[in-house]
Amino acid sequence: MTDFKKKVIYQIYPKSFKDSDGDGVGDIQGIIEKLPYLQKLGIEMIWFNPFYPSPQNDNGYDISDYCQIDPLFGTMTDFERLISEMEKFGIEMMLDMVFNHTSTKHVWFQRALAGEKKYQKYYILRPAKANGDLPTNWVSKFGGHAWQKFGETDLYYLHLYDVTQADLDWRNPDVRQELYRVINFWRNKGVKGFRFDVINVIGKAEELLDDPTGDGKKMYTDQPIIHEYLQEMNRQTFGQDARIITVGEMSATTVENCILYSQTERKELTMTFNFHHLKVDYPNGEKWQEGTFDFEQLKDLLHGWGQRMSAEGGWNALFWNNHDQPRALTRFLDDKNYRVEGAKLLAAAIHLSRGTPYIYQGEEIGMTDPKFDKLADYRDIETLNAYKKLQLMGYSEAKIMRIIQAKSRDNSRTPMQWSDEPSAGFSTGEPWLPVAENYQKINVETELDHGSIFSFYQRLIQLRKNHLVISEGSYTAYATEHPQIYGYIRSFKKQRLLVLNNFFEKAEPVPLPAEFISGKLLVGNYPEAERKAMITLRPYETLAILI
Ligand code: NOJ
Repeated sequence: MTDFKKKVIYQIYPKSFKDSDGDGVGDIQGIIEKLPYLQKLGIEMIWFNPFYPSPQNDNGYDISDYCQIDPLFGTMTDFERLISEMEKFGIEMMLDMVFNHTSTKHVWFQRALAGEKKYQKYYILRPAKANGDLPTNWVSKFGGHAWQKFGETDLYYLHLYDVTQADLDWRNPDVRQELYRVINFWRNKGVKGFRFDVINVIGKAEELLDDPTGDGKKMYTDQPIIHEYLQEMNRQTFGQDARIITVGEMSATTVENCILYSQTERKELTMTFNFHHLKVDYPNGEKWQEGTFDFEQLKDLLHGWGQRMSAEGGWNALFWNNHDQPRALTRFLDDKNYRVEGAKLLAAAIHLSRGTPYIYQGEEIGMTDPKFDKLADYRDIETLNAYKKLQLMGYSEAKIMRIIQAKSRDNSRTPMQWSDEPSAGFSTGEPWLPVAENYQKINVETELDHGSIFSFYQRLIQLRKNHLVISEGSYTAYATEHPQIYGYIRSFKKQRLLVLNNFFEKAEPVPLPAEFISGKLLVGNYPEAERKAMITLRPYETLAILI
């Protein structure tokens, strides 16, 4: 039995979890205070977004030192206390490894700029084309060109993200060794999980070419060499300890590659995050546009990935929310009239599925997107860049704000809502990002007092620990043609679990296979109803029947 399949992972965005010293930014001490809460929830591992030294241009994904703690969050001693406290609560630690790029403030980049050849070879530096054009026509994922002048030289450095995030050259074995040392450094401190940031874009070719038809993505994403890099990294680092769990964040990936990245016998990663199901409200693939949620597409994607990963031995990380996504409850459902039902529906839809579920902080109390109405409330660099771009496109202020309100990454980054005290009990100071306006109604204290979402999550987490059909079972799509229902059947030995989710407000009948009519209702978000060959799912109803 593989233990990791029974675990649920909780994601903490340290900046916004709990501030212990009143500077408005969450910190390690704050996290320690809240460990009993997380133990109560039942999770067994926490993934922390980066808390290493960083200029914070991309909220910690621009790292200037991989093996230290940013004073904003605490000290190395605080970190060591955190890991030992977590141990007492039976919770393991997963750290974020941002290895595609470093901050331009990292000493490697600084030494490269100062002329040291050794460090210049750490980055991807290229001359302009003969006609003076940039080395390639690639576009940065945060907007604008992906190349920036390298100091006073004639060269340019590649940055697939912000201009302060310079891409590392993985073709250089010294770079790889440096990064493996980072993993082993944290392993020695007791870290048992690693999340690899945008790891499927690390494999750039020696000769970089223009993308004749796009933004450059296809020239560097999921390149075959990445599998070799991952195997080497696995051998030299975490692969030496069978208890370690790894997850790769995969940008614009394919199911074929994710199967390869995650098949146990290939010794690459434990599992992969992909984002296709979170682009079902992007009109023509464009994020920064108003769009409606395409349920058919969502269902087809979840089924496609669920079935292929199941049939071919891959393993999915299952999630609706993270620090880069608006909250799914606001985005896909009706968070005004059906917040509680909706939160449970989303939870059950992934927690009963095949893969490892992740809970993003606040999801377990049904937090929603804030309603910021002015640009000054936003902090995220991608959002601020998008604002400028939309202005250049001639959009009205009202339209730009509507788009940003729906799409900004700050939607999920607002402070955790602990209580109805000022700043939601997150901080005694001014939070670095405003708290969502509904904190007096939606907060941990109220939820634990008389809410039912948290306890629903507790139940789902326990069910995964106790039922092999959930942790190990195969995945088969069910009722694929139904316009409102996302359903699947999990099977393990003689056990079967049917999971039905009505993603809409309208009550809808759905056929029930005869053998499930007398099955046991394992979990649901409504009182149990009579079952016949057809059952009617109520607004946003989820239910799971075990036979
Ligand atoms: C993905 C991270 O989740 C995101 O927050 C970050 O901006 C990019 N990678 C670049 O590191």
